[in-house]
Amino acid sequence: MTEFWEGSFRNNVEMWGFEPARSTLLTNTFFMEHNVRNILIPGIGYGRNAQIFRDNGMTVTGIEISRTAIDLAHKHFGNDLIIHHGSVVEMPFDNILYDGIYCYALIHLLDKDERAKFIRDCFNQLADNGYMFFATITKKAQLYGQGTCVDKDRFQLIGGLNMFFYDRETIQEEFGKAGLFEIMDVIDIYPFYLIKCQKNEMGNGRNGRSQP
Ligand SMILES: C[S@@+](CC[C@H](N)C(=O)[O-])C[C@H]1O[C@@H](n2cnc3c(N)ncnc32)[C@H](O)[C@@H]1O
Repeated sequence: MTEFWEGSFRNNVEMWGFEPARSTLLTNTFFMEHNVRNILIPGIGYGRNAQIFRDNGMTVTGIEISRTAIDLAHKHFGNDLIIHHGSVVEMPFDNILYDGIYCYALIHLLDKDERAKFIRDCFNQLADNGYMFFATITKKAQLYGQGTCVDKDRFQLIGGLNMFFYDRETIQEEFGKAGLFEIMDVIDIYPFYLIKCQKNEMGNGRNGRSQP
């Protein structure tokens, strides 16, 4: 995984440009409306989906597996952007409770056990009433079914990247106990879902169910 992303950033540098994705714009609006101030962005890349939150007064901390991407983020957005270098499977990297977590196009790269741990670790780093939003590819994407099947709804694509394709049922299964309150369809580079969860003041999911 590390080599794949290191190679990508070294060869293609800022491969997605500097405009934030549509899911990021929606999340930024929601976070502003709900007074979210301090956010964690796992898989922050070179920061194109982070700067809009900072421009609106939020404090951003990132997690990123690629050293090259971190260097690019610091070059473009300044060294005061704190980014932990490592894999999200090693979370937590600090003991801060965040009032927002935003993760764009990363969770679908993980396997089933890693996804479960990642959701749990994000939930555990949320302050009471905090929100965590995940933007992820869906089965409606043309990519679905291409490459070699390595697990249910998970395929190895050209280049060796493994990708899991969510539908509403698997989102319910994986996020149902993590305060899931909305699944929004968003057309990004592919058909995406923006998965929205909130932790309530009892430390449970918004729907009152116990933690993931
Ligand atoms: C599809 S890219 C999205 C990047 C960024 N969110 C954006 O849209 O600009 C996935 C990002 O997650 C990083 N990544 C992949 N696997 C990771 C892992 N296990 N832990 C932390 N970061 C990871 C990659 O290096 C890459 O920056």
